[in-house]
Amino acid sequence: MTELIKKMNEALAWELRAMNMYAHYAANITGINRLQLSPMFNTEMTESIEHADIVRKGIVQLGGIPVTERDPHPIIHTTDYIEMLNYSLETEIRASEVYSELLPLIEQTDDLYDSMEQIYLAELKSVEEMRLLVR
Ligand SMILES: [Fe+2]
Repeated sequence: MTELIKKMNEALAWELRAMNMYAHYAANITGINRLQLSPMFNTEMTESIEHADIVRKGIVQLGGIPVTERDPHPIIHTTDYIEMLNYSLETEIRASEVYSELLPLIEQTDDLYDSMEQIYLAELKSVEEMRLLVR
């Protein structure tokens, strides 16, 4: 149980970081790419807020204390949209890894398994989306 709470807190910290990173890029993207990438970064930000909320409530339900600080992995400021997309890809890969490490710690019959698996699948989808965008 403790290991699961620890992993879920790791996932939560990455979601908190992703919220900040996507909000930063949505605000800083300029030029013609702003038209499409600002809404996309905002959508990713909203998704991170939703994922964080689900994970946070799950941690409380397990009797744990959710972290309030984001993962310390640096958020790199840039105005180059390709760099923004590469940092987004890096973030989505890392997030999907954390969820993949988390799933084996949960009983498959548990309701928590379903909600964590759904987030994991959403992260994988984002990874594929980012991969296509950085090409
Ligand atoms: Fe997420």
